[in-house]
Amino acid sequence: MYRVLITDNLSPAGLKILEDNPEIELDIRSGLSPEEVREALKSADGIIIRSATKLTEEVLKDQPRLKAIVRAGVGVDNIDRAAATREGIVVMNTPAGNTTSTAEQTIALMMSLARNIGPAYATMKEGKWERKKLTGTQVAGKTLAIIGLGRIGLSVAQRAQGLEMKVIGYDPFMSAERAAEYGIELYKEVDELVKHCDFLTVHTPLTDETRDLINAERIATMRPGVRIINCARGGIVNEDDLADALESGKVAGAACDVFTQEPPENRRLIDAPNMLATPHLGASTDEAQEMVALEAAEIISDFLTKNEIRHA
Ligand code: NAD
Ligand code: MLT
Repeated sequence: MYRVLITDNLSPAGLKILEDNPEIELDIRSGLSPEEVREALKSADGIIIRSATKLTEEVLKDQPRLKAIVRAGVGVDNIDRAAATREGIVVMNTPAGNTTSTAEQTIALMMSLARNIGPAYATMKEGKWERKKLTGTQVAGKTLAIIGLGRIGLSVAQRAQGLEMKVIGYDPFMSAERAAEYGIELYKEVDELVKHCDFLTVHTPLTDETRDLINAERIATMRPGVRIINCARGGIVNEDDLADALESGKVAGAACDVFTQEPPENRRLIDAPNMLATPHLGASTDEAQEMVALEAAEIISDFLTKNEIRHA
């Protein structure tokens, strides 16, 4: 029997695949401390996590039984992959299951910024009727800049084009020809791209290159009144610089689904004017959670019982 530990919420469809596999025994626990995860891993062949469980070097050290980590989702930044590799543990993810949901969240936040849905909702709840103050802007005819033209970035591009927006983009790994097939004007330099948009959204992983990609220097070169969205990872947009730009009015509105610390203890950005915040909900739909859970369950089963490696 192979033992699979699950320490974050996984949709029932994924659990069923594992329960129905006669070669797999499940160990489902949530709310564990890092030390408790470390202990539980000693008797596990594989683990499935979402974003709450942090698999650090300390947690992964000396785990001779553990062979695989599957992240039910895209970002593997809560796993110390170098430490896992040193320990001979394979790290896999489910790259596509939550693409559509996260693209839809990005569009929802962009539209909410354009039409002041956040403050309109809040002021109505306070008994106010503030029509003039909450005049918005149309997105049709406006330019959306997308940084990171992978699964989610391209899905956002298609949806924005359906809203009659002009889409420009930057991704060092995409050719101008391929971008053109998607109707996207590709820029070679991020510094140039950011100067030419009314809305800007980031869809890259958080790496040494993308940390603080949107910072005070770049914001200073943007059009006054630009609106910025981050549904990728906290830290790609520098939070203090964005708060400054919202306070000065240079940035007319911003929406973040992700934060450098989650939940965020530093409230400065969240409390900044015209800042719309959601608690990491990009992939939080029934459909996305079912898809990533099914895929995660299949990946761990196939790895343990058939030695198949996917999305490593
Ligand atoms: P992906 O791997 O398909 O795409 C990422 C793209 O970023 C790639 O095309 C890559 O070439 C590009 N890229 C890498 N470095 C870059 C750089 N320096 N500048 C510009 N582009 C760069 O990933 P995806 O599925 O599209 O996910 C994108 C991001 O969204 C990830 O950070 C992921 O963790 C995050 N995400 C968030 C949620 C959420 O709940 N908010 C849900 C899913 C994914
Ligand atoms: C991801 O990387 O897939 C997202 O952050 C969504 C999630 O963790 O649920």
